[in-house]
Amino acid sequence: MLKVRGRARFAAEVPLHDLSYAAFVHGTIARGRIDTIDTAQAEAAPGVLLVMTYKNAPRMPAPPMMMEDAKGASASKLPVMQDATIRWNGEPVAVVVAQTQEEADAAAGLVHVTYLQEPAATSLDLQRQKAHPPKTILGESPRIEIGRAERALARAVHAVDETYRTPRHNHAAIELHAATVSWQDDTLTVHDATQMVNLTRSSLAAVFRIPEAKVHVLSPFVGGGFGNKGLWSHQILAAAASRMLGRPVRIVLSREGVFRITGGRTLTEQRVALGATEDGTLEGLIHTGIAGMTTHNNCPEQFTFPARHLYAAKNLLLAQEVVDLDMVANTFMRAPGESVGTFALESAVDELAVAMNLDPVELRRRFEPRKDPTSGRAFSSRNLVEAYRRGAERFGWGRRNPVPRSQHQGEWLVGYGVATATYPYYRVPGGAASIRLTQDGRAIVRMASHEMGMGTATVQSQHAAERLGLPVEAVTFEYGDSDFPSGTLAGGSSQTVSIIAAVTAAAEMLTGELLKLAGNDSPLAGLKPAEVEGWNQGIRQRDKPENFESHGSILRRAQREDGSVEAAAPMPLKAQKYSMHSYGAQFCEAWVSKQTGEVRVKRWLGSFDTGRIINPRTAASQFRGGIIMGLGLALMEETLFDERTGRIMSRSLADYHVPVHLDVPEIDVLWTDVPDPHSPMGVHGIGEIGITGVGAAVANAVYNATGKRIRDLPITLDKLL
Ligand code: MOS
Repeated sequence: MLKVRGRARFAAEVPLHDLSYAAFVHGTIARGRIDTIDTAQAEAAPGVLLVMTYKNAPRMPAPPMMMEDAKGASASKLPVMQDATIRWNGEPVAVVVAQTQEEADAAAGLVHVTYLQEPAATSLDLQRQKAHPPKTILGESPRIEIGRAERALARAVHAVDETYRTPRHNHAAIELHAATVSWQDDTLTVHDATQMVNLTRSSLAAVFRIPEAKVHVLSPFVGGGFGNKGLWSHQILAAAASRMLGRPVRIVLSREGVFRITGGRTLTEQRVALGATEDGTLEGLIHTGIAGMTTHNNCPEQFTFPARHLYAAKNLLLAQEVVDLDMVANTFMRAPGESVGTFALESAVDELAVAMNLDPVELRRRFEPRKDPTSGRAFSSRNLVEAYRRGAERFGWGRRNPVPRSQHQGEWLVGYGVATATYPYYRVPGGAASIRLTQDGRAIVRMASHEMGMGTATVQSQHAAERLGLPVEAVTFEYGDSDFPSGTLAGGSSQTVSIIAAVTAAAEMLTGELLKLAGNDSPLAGLKPAEVEGWNQGIRQRDKPENFESHGSILRRAQREDGSVEAAAPMPLKAQKYSMHSYGAQFCEAWVSKQTGEVRVKRWLGSFDTGRIINPRTAASQFRGGIIMGLGLALMEETLFDERTGRIMSRSLADYHVPVHLDVPEIDVLWTDVPDPHSPMGVHGIGEIGITGVGAAVANAVYNATGKRIRDLPITLDKLL
């Protein structure tokens, strides 16, 4: 509501006394060294307070990297502005700080840099012979081989074996990356736009060699993250400049700056081969390929992960490699791996269905595994077949004609396509939450977590109210502050369930405290937390609901203003025994113009199986948002990269096509709402699954409409003529 009313205050809007403004000068070569850097003219420009380059920047160790260091928030482990080396085109080579943003921007143009260029690796194609497996992919082996997939494929009655390509993408959040930083003595305060306040705190503490307690990161609102709002060089540079100047500094990246210094999704080239028997037994599944990466980041784009869990293949070969390129560190972007991996895998399943002359929904039913095909574990909860059944019925899948080019509407060819959506269940262990319950029946719940517009505060207020037996208006959920109990990150679709686990633990502890305070004079005397529940601003016995006492009455009798607890979520050990994933079936109706090749998605239905849904409104919105981003992936998004210079050509949101309202049809979403017995409250995260499967569902619909199979995203009109 605050966002809608324009009252939410973002990192770039925090007012501070004596604030100064920073602008970056970006390098213009892909690899080499700064030969000369002349800052005299910029330093003499009006309003300029400081020009910082590698020559005068403070000595700082490289930031700890996400997924490598438990305290890391940085997408890259490169040191920031420490020497003359240039490692990607767009790397900041100078920071200009001035009295106003305009003065900083103007002076940035007066810094003169010359370079000594070195040959750069900028082409996946030219470097492919140097492809190598990454050390791990999210801590797992980059290669799984079960049986002999190549041999099974060669013997299969029906087989497909194709290559699929997906381009670079940029997150393109509406809110620009920004930080407003200040130092008081040796304490650093950062108003940031981040998906990870705790990790940003620990990373900045490491870079500035101060205790974590001396770093305070606040991020109450994030205007779009999608995986990109972590720690990049701008927060570090702003904090370094602010310390040098002894004045608060604000850095707001320019639209172009976002594409220069924050990485996006990398490009992939994937092989998927499937071999089946006459009756649809999957004898062999091969999913392999390469992705562009850098030597200094940690995101190999796990596109082979869906194939590890989706289909009952007897023989599997799943392996991926990376090619080191000189580019800005690529990073996690909404459903990293799964979004582009499902494009390849689910296109191939459709191609096999065509080869077998079988309905693709029926083929997937025949491929459905009883247990996880690679780990052998039982699924904690998997109702994909049911999601398909319900989705197909509501979408009218039965009306589809499997013969391409058989449905027309004037100049338009009409096609239906379907694909599976899937995303893992992740939960960050160790989060803690606090609850303060006051005599007047209000509760304040706190956890260092994040609101990017997905409704975290609403859903968690709702959840805490349910736990405590309070009306939802009586609960305030506070988040986005690294001083709050140790939190979660808003990533990997893990935040909701991680908060729920911590708040549940805190609510249980609070109930225990209140029962102790209630003492022997209470109708609740002698009861244990497991025997009671929150109800009507108080506590009642589960079996004998007439045994009730209100929170206010307990606290007043104990002469206490409030009850306060802080508790950590227990480690999710039990969950490790199961293969835990979310699922969905994406249905698409696409129209393709016979004249221009233009694709219009006319109708969409997503049928999901993601555990229990807590808030139907925010959930539907998350699913739709993911699907819309998937339409961008399918039809328009592509970060154009000039391989001659290593420079991003589509250099900002202005040149980067994302769906607008007219590109988005009515999106119907439904869900099984079957709670997962092995997750807190039966809930799964849903932030990312919406985008998965969308690319393939569109490509499969386009095939059904036109008879043309596009294996190279995005599906632009030139590919259809
Ligand atoms: Mo997501 S890519 O884990 O924000």
